[in-house]
Amino acid sequence: MTSNTIASLLSKENKLQDVEVKGWVRTFRANRFIALNDGSTINNIQCVVDFENTDEAVLKRITTGAAVSIKGSLTESQGKGQQVEIQVKSIEILGDSDPETFPIQPKKHSFEFLRENAHLRTRTSTFSAVMRLRSSLSFAIHKYFNENGFYYMHTPIITGSDAEGAGEMFRVSNLDAKNPPLDEDGNVNFKEDFFGKETNLTVSGQLEAETYAMSLGKVYTFGPTFRAENSNTSRHLAEFWMIEPEVAFMDLAGNMDLAEDFMKSVLSYILEHNREDLEFLESRLLDEEKTKPQAERSEMSLIEKIKFVVDNNFKRVSYTEAIDILRNCKPNKKKKFKYIIEEWGADLQSEHERYLVEKHFNCPVILFDYPANIKAFYMRLNEDGKTVRAMDILFPGIGEMVGGSQREERLDVLKAKMKALGIDEEELWWYLDLRKYGTAVHSGFGLGFERLVMFATGMGNIRDVIPFPRTPQNAEF
Ligand code: 4AD
Ligand code: MG
Repeated sequence: MTSNTIASLLSKENKLQDVEVKGWVRTFRANRFIALNDGSTINNIQCVVDFENTDEAVLKRITTGAAVSIKGSLTESQGKGQQVEIQVKSIEILGDSDPETFPIQPKKHSFEFLRENAHLRTRTSTFSAVMRLRSSLSFAIHKYFNENGFYYMHTPIITGSDAEGAGEMFRVSNLDAKNPPLDEDGNVNFKEDFFGKETNLTVSGQLEAETYAMSLGKVYTFGPTFRAENSNTSRHLAEFWMIEPEVAFMDLAGNMDLAEDFMKSVLSYILEHNREDLEFLESRLLDEEKTKPQAERSEMSLIEKIKFVVDNNFKRVSYTEAIDILRNCKPNKKKKFKYIIEEWGADLQSEHERYLVEKHFNCPVILFDYPANIKAFYMRLNEDGKTVRAMDILFPGIGEMVGGSQREERLDVLKAKMKALGIDEEELWWYLDLRKYGTAVHSGFGLGFERLVMFATGMGNIRDVIPFPRTPQNAEF
């Protein structure tokens, strides 16, 4: 007999029968009731032990965290809260768990404590639900692109270029860090490095994805990206996963349509397939809300927020319109913004983004046509000569979820831009080749996967939606 998953035993189609399950004990009550979980569902199955006919020594080893194999008969449950339970005929302890030292006790633990035990935190309901949703969203993403004619491409992790030009890169080197070889001018001689040049971990696969869009038409990447920005916030990781579609012959308007359709599609996928996990996380959030003053409580529940995004159009607003709103608004009765926007051209801070999405529009917002000087070198310059065809998608409670643009396809304009920013043409000769040979309008965007998972799960800290978070001063595990 093969063992069953708890999800299948609890499903309505299941018939009453003899079964075998393996899992980890969540709790063991009154020497009789085991709440067993195997990760296949948020729900535990109740296993009723015939304690009078079970060895005392075995009973003692049924502790929280222990791995067990149970054989028994699936029956209709007498108790409340579950339809079926297992009447245990035999139980085997596969792996003991010392109740004195096992960190995950059957009580509420703080997320900070669980972060320090990231190797065990998926034994809790909250983290197992979050990680099942993460997995489901990944699948939905591949499904969406596959069904829409995109090819999945793998971009390199180690690169010789800085796609964003922001200088926030982790260097990859096998030189002696303390005594690197020096050239005649006293600078580090990267010619002696493993690749014979300076290399880093990728900050974005975009530039490489552009090369494939200009031959395969519609492509996407979904892989790890790395940023050495020292931002210790609840929305930044040093290692995060990014989804980057890139499409030939598509302009900025098409890019907005794609991003919106894509996000709606993957969110409706989880509404359909991960209902129980979402309901669990929603009830967790409702409990958390109850501890807040009435005025600060959210008007919508988690599932309502996701449905709202799926069912409503994102608001499309140009940077210039946004600046007008921000200059004329009163964010608060007493306080103004910390950073006052004096004039057109200033970059938006997160307080401004929050105001726009959470107070003014109260829905996801696509901001577009940003000033050229606050955006990356590769973005398509508009006819006004001062704005670029960039777009950022801002989400309530999250802030920036997506950054994208139509790409500069004109060789002369791109070269002039690179020159002005001091970007070496030789470094990106292959990127410039795309503009020499069969150039065309093309666009794409990058979506921070963890920020999407945060939105979908209602988790407040990005460190709690990735298995092993990498942040400044922290690469445990
Ligand atoms: O806006 P960004 O920097 O855009 C790019 O990298 C483009 N090359 C993408 C493209 O057009 N193909 O990053 C894209 C998204 C952000 O909107 C944000 O969601 C996420 O990546 N992101 C981060 N997520 C977690 N931690 C960080 N440190 C992040 N930095 C960016
Ligand atoms: Mg950005």
